[in-house]
Amino acid sequence: MARNKIALVGSGNIGGTLALLAGLKELGDIVMFDIADGVPQGKALDIAEASPVEGFDAKMSGGSDYSVIKDADVIIVTAGVPRKPGMSRDDLIGINSGVMAQVGEGIKKYAPNAFVICITNPLDAMVWVLQQKSGLPANKVVGMAGVLDSARFRYFLAEEFNVSVEDITAFVLGGHGDTMVPSVRYSTVAGIPLPDLVKMGWTTQERLDQIVQRTRDGGAEIVNLLKTGSAFYAPASAAIQMADAYLKDKKRVLPCAAYLDGQYGVKDLYVGVPTVIGAGGVERIVEIQLDATEKAGFDKSCDSVRQLVQICKDLDAKKA
Ligand code: APR
Repeated sequence: MARNKIALVGSGNIGGTLALLAGLKELGDIVMFDIADGVPQGKALDIAEASPVEGFDAKMSGGSDYSVIKDADVIIVTAGVPRKPGMSRDDLIGINSGVMAQVGEGIKKYAPNAFVICITNPLDAMVWVLQQKSGLPANKVVGMAGVLDSARFRYFLAEEFNVSVEDITAFVLGGHGDTMVPSVRYSTVAGIPLPDLVKMGWTTQERLDQIVQRTRDGGAEIVNLLKTGSAFYAPASAAIQMADAYLKDKKRVLPCAAYLDGQYGVKDLYVGVPTVIGAGGVERIVEIQLDATEKAGFDKSCDSVRQLVQICKDLDAKKA
Protein backbone atom coordinates (compact mmCIF):
# COMPACT_ATOMS: atom_id res chain seq x y z
CA MET A 1 0.00 0.00 0.00
CA ALA A 2 1.37 3.41 -0.94
CA ARG A 3 2.05 5.85 1.84
CA ASN A 4 -0.23 8.79 2.44
CA LYS A 5 0.90 12.10 1.01
CA ILE A 6 0.93 15.13 3.24
CA ALA A 7 1.43 18.53 1.64
CA LEU A 8 2.52 21.51 3.72
CA VAL A 9 1.64 24.81 2.07
CA GLY A 10 3.92 27.30 3.81
CA SER A 11 7.34 26.15 4.96
CA GLY A 12 8.12 28.69 7.65
CA ASN A 13 8.26 28.08 11.39
CA ILE A 14 5.06 26.06 11.61
CA GLY A 15 5.61 24.32 8.27
CA GLY A 16 9.05 23.08 9.31
CA THR A 17 7.77 21.82 12.65
CA LEU A 18 4.86 20.10 10.92
CA ALA A 19 7.24 18.29 8.58
CA LEU A 20 9.40 17.09 11.45
CA LEU A 21 6.42 15.89 13.51
CA ALA A 22 4.73 14.19 10.55
CA GLY A 23 8.02 12.43 9.83
CA LEU A 24 8.58 11.34 13.43
CA LYS A 25 5.03 9.96 13.54
CA GLU A 26 5.39 8.30 10.12
CA LEU A 27 2.13 9.82 8.89
CA GLY A 28 3.25 9.52 5.27
CA ASP A 29 5.48 11.08 2.63
CA ILE A 30 5.79 14.82 2.99
CA VAL A 31 6.00 17.55 0.42
CA MET A 32 6.70 21.14 1.43
CA PHE A 33 5.66 24.15 -0.63
CA ASP A 34 6.55 27.84 -0.28
CA ILE A 35 6.90 30.89 -2.50
CA ALA A 36 10.39 31.38 -1.06
CA ASP A 37 12.09 28.94 -3.43
CA GLY A 38 14.84 26.92 -1.75
CA VAL A 39 13.30 27.05 1.72
CA PRO A 40 10.94 24.07 1.28
CA GLN A 41 13.65 22.08 -0.52
CA GLY A 42 16.22 22.91 2.17
CA LYS A 43 13.96 22.12 5.11
CA ALA A 44 12.75 18.89 3.53
CA LEU A 45 16.33 17.74 2.92
CA ASP A 46 17.43 18.73 6.42
CA ILE A 47 14.58 16.73 8.00
CA ALA A 48 15.19 13.78 5.65
CA GLU A 49 18.77 13.73 6.89
CA ALA A 50 17.48 13.37 10.45
CA SER A 51 15.43 10.31 9.50
CA PRO A 52 18.23 7.73 9.74
CA VAL A 53 19.02 8.95 13.26
CA GLU A 54 15.39 9.15 14.37
CA GLY A 55 14.48 5.95 12.56
CA PHE A 56 11.56 7.00 10.41
CA ASP A 57 10.84 6.32 6.77
CA ALA A 58 9.23 9.13 4.82
CA LYS A 59 10.04 10.73 1.53
CA MET A 60 10.63 14.45 2.06
CA SER A 61 10.62 16.90 -0.81
CA GLY A 62 9.94 20.55 -1.46
CA GLY A 63 9.16 22.98 -4.23
CA SER A 64 7.64 26.29 -5.17
CA ASP A 65 5.29 25.15 -7.89
CA TYR A 66 1.79 24.12 -6.85
CA SER A 67 2.11 20.91 -8.85
CA VAL A 68 4.12 19.45 -5.95
CA ILE A 69 0.92 19.14 -3.88
CA LYS A 70 -0.74 16.98 -6.55
CA ASP A 71 -3.06 14.32 -5.15
CA ALA A 72 -2.15 15.02 -1.53
CA ASP A 73 -4.32 13.25 1.05
CA VAL A 74 -3.87 15.97 3.65
CA ILE A 75 -2.87 19.60 3.14
CA ILE A 76 -1.89 21.81 6.04
CA VAL A 77 -1.84 25.51 5.21
CA THR A 78 0.40 27.98 7.04
CA ALA A 79 1.24 30.26 4.11
CA GLY A 80 1.06 33.94 4.93
CA VAL A 81 2.50 36.25 7.53
CA PRO A 82 2.51 35.82 11.30
CA ARG A 83 1.91 38.69 13.72
CA LYS A 84 4.47 40.74 15.60
CA PRO A 85 4.15 42.33 19.05
CA GLY A 86 1.33 44.89 19.16
CA MET A 87 -0.54 43.26 16.29
CA SER A 88 -3.74 41.30 16.63
CA ARG A 89 -4.46 38.28 14.46
CA ASP A 90 -7.00 40.46 12.64
CA ASP A 91 -4.27 42.86 11.47
CA LEU A 92 -3.04 40.13 9.11
CA ILE A 93 -6.24 39.97 7.12
CA GLY A 94 -5.24 42.14 4.12
CA ILE A 95 -2.18 40.07 3.20
CA ASN A 96 -3.34 36.66 4.29
CA SER A 97 -6.75 36.72 2.59
CA GLY A 98 -4.94 37.22 -0.74
CA VAL A 99 -2.59 34.36 0.10
CA MET A 100 -5.57 32.10 0.93
CA ALA A 101 -7.11 32.90 -2.44
CA GLN A 102 -3.93 31.72 -4.21
CA VAL A 103 -3.63 28.61 -2.05
CA GLY A 104 -7.30 27.77 -2.59
CA GLU A 105 -6.81 27.92 -6.37
CA GLY A 106 -3.77 25.65 -6.11
CA ILE A 107 -5.70 23.09 -4.05
CA LYS A 108 -8.65 23.21 -6.43
CA LYS A 109 -6.36 22.44 -9.35
CA TYR A 110 -4.10 19.81 -7.86
CA ALA A 111 -5.67 18.18 -4.81
CA PRO A 112 -9.46 18.45 -4.81
CA ASN A 113 -9.83 15.27 -2.75
CA ALA A 114 -7.60 16.36 0.12
CA PHE A 115 -8.53 17.02 3.73
CA VAL A 116 -7.39 20.59 4.28
CA ILE A 117 -6.37 22.02 7.64
CA CYS A 118 -5.88 25.78 7.77
CA ILE A 119 -3.66 27.41 10.41
CA THR A 120 -3.11 30.85 8.85
CA ASN A 121 -4.57 33.73 10.87
CA PRO A 122 -7.01 35.32 11.42
CA LEU A 123 -8.01 31.68 11.41
CA ASP A 124 -11.79 31.59 11.26
CA ALA A 125 -11.94 34.07 8.37
CA MET A 126 -8.98 32.56 6.52
CA VAL A 127 -10.46 29.06 6.54
CA TRP A 128 -13.70 30.51 5.17
CA VAL A 129 -11.79 32.11 2.25
CA LEU A 130 -9.82 28.91 1.67
CA GLN A 131 -12.97 26.82 1.45
CA GLN A 132 -14.62 29.30 -0.92
CA LYS A 133 -11.62 29.55 -3.22
CA SER A 134 -10.80 25.84 -3.24
CA GLY A 135 -14.40 24.82 -3.82
CA LEU A 136 -13.86 21.73 -1.67
CA PRO A 137 -16.77 20.44 0.38
CA ALA A 138 -17.01 22.27 3.70
CA ASN A 139 -16.53 19.05 5.69
CA LYS A 140 -13.11 18.61 4.05
CA VAL A 141 -11.82 22.07 4.96
CA VAL A 142 -11.29 22.85 8.62
CA GLY A 143 -9.42 25.32 10.78
CA MET A 144 -6.95 24.50 13.53
CA ALA A 145 -7.58 26.56 16.63
CA GLY A 146 -9.55 24.69 19.27
CA VAL A 147 -7.01 21.91 19.76
CA LEU A 148 -4.33 24.55 20.36
CA ASP A 149 -6.48 26.78 22.57
CA SER A 150 -7.64 23.83 24.65
CA ALA A 151 -4.06 22.50 24.87
CA ARG A 152 -3.00 25.84 26.30
CA PHE A 153 -5.92 25.72 28.74
CA ARG A 154 -5.00 22.13 29.69
CA TYR A 155 -1.38 23.02 30.25
CA PHE A 156 -2.23 25.95 32.54
CA LEU A 157 -4.70 23.79 34.48
CA ALA A 158 -2.14 20.99 34.86
CA GLU A 159 0.30 23.51 36.32
CA GLU A 160 -2.38 24.88 38.66
CA PHE A 161 -3.39 21.44 39.99
CA ASN A 162 0.06 19.82 39.75
CA VAL A 163 -1.37 16.84 37.87
CA SER A 164 -0.54 15.29 34.51
CA VAL A 165 -1.58 17.16 31.40
CA GLU A 166 -2.94 13.81 30.20
CA ASP A 167 -5.63 13.79 32.88
CA ILE A 168 -7.04 17.15 31.89
CA THR A 169 -9.62 17.70 29.21
CA ALA A 170 -10.55 21.23 28.29
CA PHE A 171 -13.16 22.76 26.15
CA VAL A 172 -12.87 25.94 24.12
CA LEU A 173 -15.54 27.34 21.82
CA GLY A 174 -15.83 30.28 19.45
CA GLY A 175 -13.36 32.13 17.27
CA HIS A 176 -9.59 31.91 17.61
CA GLY A 177 -9.18 35.38 19.05
CA ASP A 178 -9.79 37.53 22.07
CA THR A 179 -13.43 36.51 22.07
CA MET A 180 -12.84 32.75 22.38
CA VAL A 181 -14.91 31.02 25.02
CA PRO A 182 -13.01 28.58 27.26
CA SER A 183 -15.74 26.54 28.99
CA VAL A 184 -15.09 25.99 32.66
CA ARG A 185 -17.96 23.60 33.30
CA TYR A 186 -17.04 21.27 30.42
CA SER A 187 -13.36 21.15 31.39
CA THR A 188 -12.30 18.41 33.79
CA VAL A 189 -9.54 16.77 35.75
CA ALA A 190 -10.05 13.02 35.26
CA GLY A 191 -13.74 13.66 34.68
CA ILE A 192 -14.22 16.06 37.61
CA PRO A 193 -15.59 19.36 36.26
CA LEU A 194 -13.67 22.51 37.23
CA PRO A 195 -16.55 24.02 39.28
CA ASP A 196 -16.43 20.89 41.48
CA LEU A 197 -12.70 21.37 41.95
CA VAL A 198 -13.39 24.88 43.23
CA LYS A 199 -15.85 23.38 45.76
CA MET A 200 -13.23 20.79 46.70
CA GLY A 201 -10.77 23.58 47.48
CA TRP A 202 -8.30 22.65 44.73
CA THR A 203 -8.47 26.16 43.30
CA THR A 204 -10.54 29.33 43.50
CA GLN A 205 -12.88 30.94 41.03
CA GLU A 206 -10.49 33.88 40.87
CA ARG A 207 -7.59 31.61 39.85
CA LEU A 208 -9.77 29.95 37.23
CA ASP A 209 -10.74 33.34 35.83
CA GLN A 210 -7.06 34.21 35.51
CA ILE A 211 -6.34 30.93 33.73
CA VAL A 212 -9.23 31.50 31.33
CA GLN A 213 -7.85 34.96 30.52
CA ARG A 214 -4.32 33.60 30.07
CA THR A 215 -5.75 31.01 27.66
CA ARG A 216 -7.45 33.75 25.63
CA ASP A 217 -4.18 35.68 25.53
CA GLY A 218 -2.08 32.54 24.96
CA GLY A 219 -1.01 33.49 21.44
CA ALA A 220 -0.13 37.08 22.41
CA GLU A 221 1.94 35.86 25.37
CA ILE A 222 4.18 33.94 22.98
CA VAL A 223 4.31 36.76 20.40
CA ASN A 224 5.43 39.19 23.12
CA LEU A 225 8.20 36.82 24.20
CA LEU A 226 9.42 35.89 20.71
CA LYS A 227 9.08 39.45 19.32
CA THR A 228 9.81 38.28 15.75
CA GLY A 229 6.91 35.94 15.09
CA SER A 230 4.24 33.81 16.69
CA ALA A 231 3.91 30.38 18.27
CA PHE A 232 4.84 27.39 16.18
CA TYR A 233 5.54 24.25 18.17
CA ALA A 234 2.12 23.88 19.78
CA PRO A 235 0.17 24.97 16.67
CA ALA A 236 2.03 22.31 14.67
CA SER A 237 1.33 19.61 17.26
CA ALA A 238 -2.36 20.51 17.24
CA ALA A 239 -2.68 20.29 13.45
CA ILE A 240 -0.83 16.98 13.38
CA GLN A 241 -3.35 15.54 15.82
CA MET A 242 -6.15 16.54 13.44
CA ALA A 243 -4.33 15.06 10.41
CA ASP A 244 -3.75 11.84 12.34
CA ALA A 245 -7.45 11.62 13.25
CA TYR A 246 -8.38 11.91 9.56
CA LEU A 247 -5.74 9.58 8.14
CA LYS A 248 -6.40 6.85 10.71
CA ASP A 249 -10.17 7.37 10.79
CA LYS A 250 -9.91 7.76 14.56
CA LYS A 251 -13.14 9.66 14.95
CA ARG A 252 -11.51 11.91 17.53
CA VAL A 253 -13.71 14.49 19.21
CA LEU A 254 -11.70 17.64 18.63
CA PRO A 255 -12.60 21.32 18.78
CA CYS A 256 -12.02 22.82 15.33
CA ALA A 257 -13.10 25.80 13.28
CA ALA A 258 -15.83 24.00 11.34
CA TYR A 259 -18.35 25.25 8.81
CA LEU A 260 -21.70 25.86 10.47
CA ASP A 261 -24.81 25.56 8.41
CA GLY A 262 -27.45 26.17 11.04
CA GLN A 263 -25.82 24.44 14.00
CA TYR A 264 -25.72 26.64 17.09
CA GLY A 265 -28.08 28.92 15.16
CA VAL A 266 -25.21 30.04 12.91
CA LYS A 267 -25.12 29.89 9.13
CA ASP A 268 -22.32 30.19 6.57
CA LEU A 269 -19.56 30.78 9.09
CA TYR A 270 -16.49 28.91 10.31
CA VAL A 271 -16.17 29.02 14.05
CA GLY A 272 -14.75 26.83 16.80
CA VAL A 273 -17.02 23.99 17.91
CA PRO A 274 -16.48 20.39 18.99
CA THR A 275 -16.36 18.06 15.98
CA VAL A 276 -15.78 14.41 15.19
CA ILE A 277 -12.85 13.96 12.78
CA GLY A 278 -12.52 10.71 10.86
CA ALA A 279 -12.03 9.46 7.32
CA GLY A 280 -15.02 11.55 6.19
CA GLY A 281 -13.33 14.76 7.36
CA VAL A 282 -15.57 16.65 9.77
CA GLU A 283 -18.06 13.84 10.25
CA ARG A 284 -20.20 15.48 12.87
CA ILE A 285 -20.59 18.77 14.67
CA VAL A 286 -21.26 18.23 18.35
CA GLU A 287 -23.96 20.62 19.48
CA ILE A 288 -23.77 21.05 23.23
CA GLN A 289 -26.23 22.99 25.34
CA LEU A 290 -24.71 26.37 26.08
CA ASP A 291 -25.67 28.19 29.27
CA ALA A 292 -26.61 31.87 29.04
CA THR A 293 -23.07 33.18 29.63
CA GLU A 294 -21.51 30.74 27.18
CA LYS A 295 -24.17 31.55 24.59
CA ALA A 296 -23.55 35.29 24.95
CA GLY A 297 -19.78 34.72 24.64
CA PHE A 298 -20.23 32.44 21.63
CA ASP A 299 -22.57 34.88 19.87
CA LYS A 300 -20.14 37.75 20.45
CA SER A 301 -17.33 35.63 19.07
CA CYS A 302 -19.40 34.74 15.98
CA ASP A 303 -20.13 38.45 15.43
CA SER A 304 -16.46 39.30 15.37
CA VAL A 305 -15.70 36.42 12.96
CA ARG A 306 -18.59 37.58 10.75
CA GLN A 307 -17.09 41.09 10.59
CA LEU A 308 -13.74 39.65 9.48
CA VAL A 309 -15.40 37.53 6.80
CA GLN A 310 -17.15 40.65 5.56
CA ILE A 311 -13.79 42.45 5.29
CA CYS A 312 -12.52 39.49 3.19
CA LYS A 313 -15.59 39.69 0.94
CA ASP A 314 -15.07 43.44 0.49
CA LEU A 315 -11.36 42.99 -0.31
CA ASP A 316 -12.23 40.28 -2.83
CA ALA A 317 -14.88 42.47 -4.48
CA LYS A 318 -12.37 45.32 -4.80
CA LYS A 319 -9.92 43.02 -6.58
CA ALA A 320 -12.53 41.66 -8.97
N1 APR B 1 2.27 31.22 -0.91
C1 APR B 1 3.00 30.30 -0.24
N2 APR B 1 3.73 30.59 0.85
C2 APR B 1 3.71 31.85 1.28
C3 APR B 1 2.97 32.86 0.65
C4 APR B 1 2.22 32.51 -0.51
N3 APR B 1 1.49 33.41 -1.17
N4 APR B 1 3.15 34.02 1.34
C5 APR B 1 3.99 33.75 2.35
N5 APR B 1 4.34 32.43 2.32
C6 APR B 1 5.23 31.70 3.21
C7 APR B 1 6.44 32.49 3.66
O1 APR B 1 7.45 32.50 2.66
C8 APR B 1 6.84 31.74 4.93
O2 APR B 1 7.83 30.75 4.67
O3 APR B 1 4.56 31.35 4.41
C9 APR B 1 5.55 31.06 5.38
C10 APR B 1 5.04 31.51 6.74
O4 APR B 1 5.99 31.14 7.68
P1 APR B 1 6.36 32.04 8.95
O5 APR B 1 6.54 33.46 8.53
O6 APR B 1 7.50 31.36 9.66
O7 APR B 1 5.03 31.97 9.83
P2 APR B 1 4.52 30.80 10.80
O8 APR B 1 4.99 31.06 12.18
O9 APR B 1 4.82 29.49 10.18
O10 APR B 1 2.93 31.10 10.80
C11 APR B 1 2.18 31.00 9.63
O11 APR B 1 0.16 30.58 10.84
O12 APR B 1 -0.34 30.75 13.11
C12 APR B 1 -0.43 31.35 11.85
O13 APR B 1 -0.47 33.70 12.38
C13 APR B 1 0.30 32.66 11.83
O14 APR B 1 -0.64 33.37 9.76
C14 APR B 1 0.53 32.83 10.36
C15 APR B 1 0.74 31.41 9.86
